[in-house]
Amino acid sequence: MSLNRRQFVLSSTAVAATSLPGCGGEDAVTIDTSLPVGPYDATSTAEEVTAGIDLTGKTALVTGCNSGIGFETMRVLALRGAHVIGTGRTLEKAAVACASVDGQTTPLALELSDFDSCVACAQAVAALGKPLDILIPNAGIGTFAEFELINGVEKIFVVNYLGHVVLTMNLLPLVQAADRGRIVHVGSQMGYKSAPRGGIDFNNLRGEGDYDANQAYGRSKLANALFSLKLSQMLDAADTTSNVIHPGFVKTNIGRDATGFIGFLYNNVAPVIQKSVAEGAATQAYVATNPLLEGVSGAYFEDCNPVTINVPNHVFDVALADRLWTETLGMVGEYWEG
Ligand SMILES: NC(=O)c1ccc[n+]([C@@H]2O[C@H](COP(=O)([O-])OP(=O)(O)OC[C@H]3O[C@@H](n4cnc5c(N)ncnc54)[C@H](OP(=O)(O)O)[C@@H]3O)[C@@H](O)[C@H]2O)c1
Repeated sequence: MSLNRRQFVLSSTAVAATSLPGCGGEDAVTIDTSLPVGPYDATSTAEEVTAGIDLTGKTALVTGCNSGIGFETMRVLALRGAHVIGTGRTLEKAAVACASVDGQTTPLALELSDFDSCVACAQAVAALGKPLDILIPNAGIGTFAEFELINGVEKIFVVNYLGHVVLTMNLLPLVQAADRGRIVHVGSQMGYKSAPRGGIDFNNLRGEGDYDANQAYGRSKLANALFSLKLSQMLDAADTTSNVIHPGFVKTNIGRDATGFIGFLYNNVAPVIQKSVAEGAATQAYVATNPLLEGVSGAYFEDCNPVTINVPNHVFDVALADRLWTETLGMVGEYWEG
C-alpha cells in the first residue's frame, strides 16, 4: 500500500511525536462511567465548557497565570465573572497578565521553589478576606531542567509538587470556608507514563541515585495526583473536593528549554498535534466549575472526562499517597500549622 504525501507527513509526525513527553498511547485510559460524564472531549475549549456558567461572586486562584494553560484558565474564569487571583513568579509578571484580561483579577507573587514565598502568597490571599471557591495549582516546569537541588531536594519535585503543597495547605481553611470549594490539581499523564517503576523513589529525592529528567517530571506529576487523592480522603466531599487533571499535550512554553532531537520535535512536529491553549485549559476549567461534578472528589480527568487508567500506574494508590504524605510532612510540614 502506498501513502500519499499528506498521509506520509501525518504518519511520520505520529511516530516522531511518541518521543515527546505527554504524547501517544491515548487508549491508555477509559472514560469512567461510574462518575458523571459531560458532553465535552479533547476538542472542547475552556470557553465552551464554561458557557452559561455564572461565576459572579466566586473567587478563584490560578498559579502560573502569565503563561500557557494558566493564563487561559484565568482569562476564562474572569470572563465568567469570577474574581481571579493570578500568581506569577514575580508580581510584575502576574500584574502584566492580570491587566491583559477582562474582568476582576488580582496579581500576586509566588515563587514555588521558595516556601516562604508560598506562605506569603497564601497570607496575601487571606488578607483579601474572602473564601476561596476555586484553587488551581497549575504552574510547573517541564522535563528539560538540568539536575539541581533546592534546599537538598530535587528541583522539579520542589517546584511542581512541594511548593504547591505548602501553598495549598496554607490556603485550605479559605477553600473550606467556601460553599463547596474545589481544588483542581494540574498533573499530567506522565505521572503514569514516566514516573519511576515504584511510583515515587523516596530514596532518590535528594539526588542519591541516577537522574533522569523524564522520570523526575513523571514523579512530580504523580505526586500531584497522590496529593489530590490524599486531600480527597482528608476532606468531606460534600464540602470541598480535590481532583487531578491532565490537560493534554498543549502548545505552551513548557518545552521552551528543550534541546537536541526533542527540541527539534517540539519546534517542528509538536505543533501539528498539540492542543491549542484554549483546548488545553478546558479540562481544568470544566472540573473547577461544572455543576455535574458537585461532590466528585479523588478522580482523575483527561480530555474533560473522568477516566480510569488501563496501564500499570500508581495514580489511585492509597498506600503510596499515605507514604508520600508522611514524607512530605517531614520535608515541608513546618510551613503550615497542621
Ligand atoms: N503543555 C503541556 O503539554 C502539558 C502537559 C501536561 C501537563 N502540563 C502541566 O500544565 C501546567 C501548566 O504548564 P504550561 O504547559 O501552561 O507551561 P508554561 O506555559 O511554561 O507555564 C508554566 C507556568 O508555571 C510558572 N512557573 C514555572 N516555574 C515556576 C516557579 N518556580 N514558581 C512559580 N511559578 C513557576 C511559569 O512562570 P514563568 O513563565 O515565569 O516561568 C508559568 O507561568 C504545568 O503544571 C504542566 O506540568 C502541561
